[in-house]
Order: sequence, then C-alpha cells, then structure tokens
Amino acid sequence: MSNIEEEINKRRTFAIISHPDAGKTTLTEKFLLYGGAINLAGSVKGKATARHAVSDWMEIEKERGISVTSSVLQFNYDGYCINILDTPGHQDFSEDTYRTLMAADSAVMVIDASKGVEAQTRKLFKVCGMRGIPIFTFINKLDRDANDTFELLDEIEKELGIATCPINWPIGSGKRFKGVYDRHENHVLTYSDTQKGTKEGETTILPMDNEELLLEHIGSEALSVLRDEIDLLDGASAEFDIEEVRKGKLTPVFFGSALTNFGVEVFLQNFLKMATTPLPRKSQDESIDPVSNAFSAFVFKIQANMNKAHRDRIAFMRICSGKFDAGEEVKHVQGGKVMRLSQPQQIMADERKILNEAYAGDIIGVFDPGIFAIGDTVCAPKSNICYEGIPTFAPEHFARVRQVDTMKRKQFIKGVYQIAQEGAIQIFQEFNTGMEEIIVGVVGVLQFDVLKYRLENEYNVEIKLESLPYEYIRWIENKDEIELDKLSGTSDMKKIQDLKGNPLLLFINQWSIGMTLDRNKGLVLSEFGRN
Ligand code: G4P
Repeated sequence: MSNIEEEINKRRTFAIISHPDAGKTTLTEKFLLYGGAINLAGSVKGKATARHAVSDWMEIEKERGISVTSSVLQFNYDGYCINILDTPGHQDFSEDTYRTLMAADSAVMVIDASKGVEAQTRKLFKVCGMRGIPIFTFINKLDRDANDTFELLDEIEKELGIATCPINWPIGSGKRFKGVYDRHENHVLTYSDTQKGTKEGETTILPMDNEELLLEHIGSEALSVLRDEIDLLDGASAEFDIEEVRKGKLTPVFFGSALTNFGVEVFLQNFLKMATTPLPRKSQDESIDPVSNAFSAFVFKIQANMNKAHRDRIAFMRICSGKFDAGEEVKHVQGGKVMRLSQPQQIMADERKILNEAYAGDIIGVFDPGIFAIGDTVCAPKSNICYEGIPTFAPEHFARVRQVDTMKRKQFIKGVYQIAQEGAIQIFQEFNTGMEEIIVGVVGVLQFDVLKYRLENEYNVEIKLESLPYEYIRWIENKDEIELDKLSGTSDMKKIQDLKGNPLLLFINQWSIGMTLDRNKGLVLSEFGRN
C-alpha cells in the first residue's frame, strides 16, 4: 500500500450533531482525551478549563462581532487519524452549521436520554439524511434518570425515519444505573461513577452466563428486567447490517455517560471500525475515488475577517482525493487559474498551524484574496474535476433591510452582496419588482447582528432591519410547469425571488405549505435550493 493510500485509509472525518446541552462538548473532550490531544490535568481541574482550550474561541469571535463558525479538531487514536467537525448550536446556529455537514463522511448524533429527539437534532439530521451518510447514535446522560429505552428508540425511528440497532443496552438509569449490556459480546460492563475528567471508572466485565457475578453486581431485580428486555429486543429490533449503516438507513445505538466517561471509549472504538474511510464524491457524472486520484478539494465555508487587523478571508476546504502538498500548484476550477494556495493551515480551535501536507479526509483553511465561492473546486492542474455545488439551505428568519442614509445606496448594495456571496446571509427581492427592497434570510438570528455589525464596520453603512413573520421558505422545483400568477396560496403566503429570478414562497407555518400544495396540484416545493 502506498503511503498516500495508508494515510487516507486511516482517516475518519465526522461531525457531531446534537441539540444544545445534550453533551456534544463533553463527548468531544472525552474523545480528545483518549487521543491525548488535551492533557488530563487540564480537564481534571474542571470542564471550564478544558473547554476554554478547545471551544470557547467562538465567544471570542463573537465579542469581535464576526461571524461564528465551526472548526475542526484533529487527533490520532489507535492508528486512526480523526477529524471532528464542530457544528455550532444555540444562537450560533447558521447556514455554516449545515454546510459543515457537507464536508463530513459520517455523523455522531448525541441525544440526551431524558429529552429524546430535540428540535436542532431534527434539523441537522435532515441534512445528513439528504446526503445519506452513516449516522451513529450516542444516547447520553444515563447517570441521570432517563426515558424508557424502547421509547427512545421508537422516537428516533418515528421522528427521524431511520431504523435503530442498539449495540449495547442500558441497565437502569440515574441512581440505579448499573452499566450496559453488550449484545455482541454477550456480557455486561458495570458502571462506576468517576471523578469528572479522569480517563475511565473501574469497569468489570460480567459474562451473561455467570449468574452469580451478575447477581452480585447488578442485583436480581435489574437482572430480571435486563433478561426480559434482551428477549424483547432480540425479537423486535433491526438486525445489524453494516451496508444499511453505510447507506444511512440504520443507526447503531450506544448508551453511556460522557460526563462520567462511561461507554465513551467503547463507542469510539466501535464507531471507528464501522465508520467509512473518506468517501468518494461526485464530479459531474463521475465518482471521484479518494485514493486513486490526485489532489482535489471543495470549498464548504468562507470566513471573513478572522483576523480583524488583516481583514483576511479564509476559505475552508475539504480534501476529497489524493495528497495536498503546499509546495505544488493547484487549479481553481471556477476561476480557471493555476496557483499556489496561500498560507494553507489547519485551524484547530483558536490555533492555526501552517501545513505542508494533508490528505483526503482532512480540512484545510487557506487565505482567500476574494476569489473563492462556496462550492468551488480546487484540484491538481491536470485533473478534470468539478464537484457538485453545495445546496442552499432554507433560512428560517427573514427581515426587510434598508440603509439609514439613502445616499449610501452603493456601499449598501455592495456590502450586502459581498456578505451574501460569502454565504453568511441569503438575499431576496420582492417578486417581479426591482431591487428597491432587499429581504434578507438567515438560518440563525445571530447572522442579523453579524450583518449589521459588518455593514457598519466594513462598509460604513448603517442599516435598519424590519423583521418579517415568515419562518418557512420553499423553492419551486418545477417552476417552468407552474403558472406563478395563478398560484393560489394562503392569504399569508408571500412570493419572492432570488437574485437569479427564481421564484420562492414564504410561509408562516407548515399548515400554509400543506394548504398551498393541496390547492395547486402538481406543485413541487423543496427545502433546499440549488445554485
Ligand atoms: P453541548 O455541547 O451539547 O451543548 O453540551 P455540553 O457538553 O456543554 O453539556 C451540557 C451540560 O450537560 C453540561 O452541564 C455537562 O456537564 C452536562 N453533561 C454532559 N454529559 C453529561 C452526562 O453524561 N451526564 C450528566 N449528568 N451531565 C452531562 P452544565 O452544568 O451546563 O455545564 P458545566 O457546569 O458542567 O460546565
């Protein structure tokens, strides 16, 4: 095996998706701990310290008023080279969060055992579902009282439309949490509470045929419940099938407690075995194999002004094939230019490390003098690759935006266009009228503040935002077959258009979408726009 092939095959690139507070940060930190990427001492002192080291840079960015984005963490574990893509949540939620998922080969879904499937998990899952990437579920916080396990699985299946296959099974929860039963190994791993941050608590392995040991450790009541549940489970749950997992149709489910570090390493080990090496990507009608092709990558995120003093822009690229060598020239396909990528770096939390080489599966950030756009392809000069663009994701918040000083129309338009081009906001117009009114759509409300701040600071334009009541936007898939003037929607529906003149519909609620579809037979609406 060539060195390049070896390097690529050991890579696993994934995103962690969850609703805020489910335990994504805690789980990530425990992963990093196993990989030795953060030292134990730092995190024993408390999560605050460890967190500061890896995740809090977003706060710093926020203070500086620039757009909040996701970053990547890389570490090695057990012969694997792991790239974790961070997907910001809470008010940091933005289109970038979705775009990051376009750069991942699989996703880990963290669910709080006492909450089940929550709003943000649902949204992120939808994007993973659209791509058909494998999804691994970690049901967290078993050290607290949890919902019924069967109900949790049922909820995932019904709400997300993916079959579940529990790899292990919890024995009780909260104060009565005894550990997990490993279905494949047919043994129980006992739980013991640990101090926060230590590597692992003491775990005893109890084979299921050793009644005496089982009774001693987990007691007769829990054992009898477990035996009943195993019977039920064997009869009811989907068979494990790695092919179905790889297609994103079946999710392996693990249980544990990230905080007390129980079940995390078992999860990591199994996940790494089941997750794929970097996946091939589609270029026109061809599938580009990561190993047998020379360097290629696509831009999935552009971040402006990471360093205010330099007014720089960083383009984040996911390498899809081959090896990236900083000394070699590459072709920017959309720009039609051959060039050397400037200051290639690996961006880990707030640290930037200049890179000399990287491989398929890795993410690099390069200095962007304003030439890259989201979805662009960069490849070896002789290659003929052009990756499919990244879809436009449905914004959920809309506002009419106006400049305060009407004399500054030019700067205003320039600023709004540039910020939209970077992908921080989407801009629309009233249907069939000129550019008089600009309607801005964003995925997360923080982007409105970012827009205001950046227009004031970078373009010297003050703006007024008037928020609109719409929450749903739909692209009309079959616009050529539909007579737009005759479209009969609900009274609260609004027609708008994007900058290319494509018609779009805005709705206040799901009900109006349903009504509009009912009233206009043949109308096809989509949640994702195509560039
Ligand atoms: P997030 O990134 O998904 O938003 O979640 P994060 O890891 O920050 O965890 C949210 C809260 O849940 C934290 O508590 C964290 O300690 C707690 N938590 C995470 N995993 C577990 C678990 O397995 N068991 C229990 N009992 N709690 C867990 P916090 O009080 O908000 O923060 P902190 O004071 O601990 O920093």
